[in-house]
Amino acid sequence: MEPLNLFEYEVLASKYMEPAIWDYYQGGSDDEVTLKSNRASFERLHLRPRVLVDVTTIDMHTTVQGVPISMPIMIAPTAFHRLVHTEGECATVRAAGNADTVMVASTFSTCSLEETARAACGPLWFQLYVYRDLHLSQALVQRAEASGYRAIVLTVDAPRLGRRERDIHNAFTVPASVRIANFARDLLPDAYIPEPAVITWDTVKWLRSITSLPVLLKGILTADDALLACEHGIDGIIVSNHGGRQLDGAVASIDALPEIVQAVAGKCEVYMDGGIRRGTDVLKALALGARAVLIGRPVLWGLAMNGSAGVQHVLELLRSELSLAMTLAGCPALTEIRHSLIQRL
Ligand code: FNR
Repeated sequence: MEPLNLFEYEVLASKYMEPAIWDYYQGGSDDEVTLKSNRASFERLHLRPRVLVDVTTIDMHTTVQGVPISMPIMIAPTAFHRLVHTEGECATVRAAGNADTVMVASTFSTCSLEETARAACGPLWFQLYVYRDLHLSQALVQRAEASGYRAIVLTVDAPRLGRRERDIHNAFTVPASVRIANFARDLLPDAYIPEPAVITWDTVKWLRSITSLPVLLKGILTADDALLACEHGIDGIIVSNHGGRQLDGAVASIDALPEIVQAVAGKCEVYMDGGIRRGTDVLKALALGARAVLIGRPVLWGLAMNGSAGVQHVLELLRSELSLAMTLAGCPALTEIRHSLIQRL
């Protein structure tokens, strides 16, 4: 039977993956406290619906960095889509385009950024990990620009990878058949396995100086860093704890969101990811000031089960849930979704 919601996708998708791949996708770092908090914190937020509002039509259209999208839900960057589907990111990107939203392609994609761009039928952003060899990082940015990507998303919460103990138990390694296509020898002759760099605000200045595309920082969790981001001329912030895969014990994204929105005070767009599984979660994030949200793991569940159609179905489920949630909360337009909709228990 077709899954009715994202939690049903989660249960069914586990049967489509090798246990070690499932653990790689699902897992968080250390005790997975932050992973669990991302969900638990949504459940602590309650909604204060308004009634007797004309909700005959519900408008979910918005823009992100000036790019029009049909709903405030995007695809977060996740690595190695070919681990679960032969078409990899090329399948995912078609689903994003068909749903008329943005996909953020990971540096660790298993289709090259050019292949993904050729398969796309909608807007794309590129997620950047920076390497010690800055020329290599610059080359990635230039290739993304040349291929029509509309923004660069610099991930700032991964100076080292978090300790994913499920992967250690499973002795998990990505199979040789699944390569990081962006570093294929024909594309980057000198840099087959690049060394990651520890990045600082100087790296942000450098990135800002080499591209005219909007630059976003992904992985900000405090007002202090959000303000520094604004001072560095950043165009957008993705409030994120990397799906609970980096610093365990870090605050849930939805709990970090309000102080960041307040600090930024409209100077740049603020988005969030982590634990979004229901239309009501999206509604709560928007009420707390996010312009849009991104989803990570649910996309991989849809991809594993049914390729591009599975990803698209995941997106359409969330779209119709958000539409129903806006209807029942008395918010026919995104501009009607206000902080007063939230009661924290
Ligand atoms: C990620 N994430 C991630 N982030 C990033 O900036 N670059 C990457 O390559 C990856 N890769 C990746 C792989 C897997 C398997 C997961 C689960 C996550 C983090 C991702 O963009 C996002 O922040 C979280 O997945 C959001 O949380 P949910 O929606 O998975 O709860």
